[in-house]
Amino acid sequence: MRCQSPVHLRFSEDGKFRILALGDSHEKLPFTEKTEDMLNLLNAAAENLHPDAVIFMGDLVQRENEAENRPATDEEMYEQVVRLTTPFTSRNIPVGIVFGNHDGDPPAELKKNVFAQFCRIPRFLNTDESGVTGVGNCFVPIYDHSGEKMLFNLWLLDSGSRAQDGSDGYAWVDDDQIAWYERTCDAITAENGSVVPSIFFQHIPVCEEYRLLRETTILNPYRVKGMSMYKGKYFTRGPELEGYLGEGPAVPAKNNGQFDSWKKKGDVIAAVFGHDHMNRFQGEVDGILLCQTQLTGSTMWGDGLRQGVRVIDLDETRPGKLATYMVYYRDFFGTKCKSISPYNLLSDRWHINFKVTLGVLGAAAGVTAVTVGTKAIVRGLKKKK
Ligand SMILES: [Fe+2]
Ligand SMILES: [Fe+2]
Repeated sequence: MRCQSPVHLRFSEDGKFRILALGDSHEKLPFTEKTEDMLNLLNAAAENLHPDAVIFMGDLVQRENEAENRPATDEEMYEQVVRLTTPFTSRNIPVGIVFGNHDGDPPAELKKNVFAQFCRIPRFLNTDESGVTGVGNCFVPIYDHSGEKMLFNLWLLDSGSRAQDGSDGYAWVDDDQIAWYERTCDAITAENGSVVPSIFFQHIPVCEEYRLLRETTILNPYRVKGMSMYKGKYFTRGPELEGYLGEGPAVPAKNNGQFDSWKKKGDVIAAVFGHDHMNRFQGEVDGILLCQTQLTGSTMWGDGLRQGVRVIDLDETRPGKLATYMVYYRDFFGTKCKSISPYNLLSDRWHINFKVTLGVLGAAAGVTAVTVGTKAIVRGLKKKK
């Protein structure tokens, strides 16, 4: 099944098309001031960046009513979906999603319920008729400004939850999903007479992100721990990586050849991921730009006021090219924030600074204690004399 988006997107009259990728939202029940911070960010992004479409990058809404210890009802999930998407739907901006690992946590069938709630919003980009593993797998064509020729394509794929073999790690994209991508890509190429450049959106990053890093054994505050098959090793940024590496990419437990299938088909010029809350880098591997998008939500760990959105700009006159960069909460609001510690303002690696500060204070307290103690002993000895 082809599974094409029901929404017809086209470049604007000036030949531009702007997409916003919105990293993990981790929306919570009930509404709190943390949600308010995220909504301020989303509203400011919609108002100031004027996107033509937005994609939520997974780990979307809370599916449990924790206060009552039961699954959330459809209406409770819909309430969260409306909250998340209103900054865009109220401005007639189409919204798409890819599901994250938390969206598929047990009971997994709730993912379908969440999808059904997104289907209730206007101009929802996804459809769910691929017939392969996952929910909401589809492709979204972008036509030229006259609306006739398909110039660009967006793939939206559900990258799963936990490792399929039961091991302690994240899922890999299944064989049937890769096969669906390949045959759909072939059909699009045949219809258009040539390969249509595309961007791939999915939650869990591909293993090839580690090719943007360099293994290191040197102790330094900027190194990160490897994850998944890279566990036990340490890495630092490589020369091709632009942006910020805050944590080891939490890639699938197994490399199932998804990246190689993109290379084989030749349409994917960039891939955009969520999942890693602190990473916001980009870098090219074998001609494909791999982009991490920092979380937008404020209810989970992150780098505080670096919460932001990824802008992706396309140009009708430059098919196969894109420009991308991050815009942050603090770019709109400075340090005005209800839910994030002011300590996060100090630096990207605030947690390291925190440890360093504690260490310095501890050392200063130790030196003071030793000095005071020594003086007291000396005074005591003098008195005895
Ligand atoms: Fe997440
Ligand atoms: Fe995740």
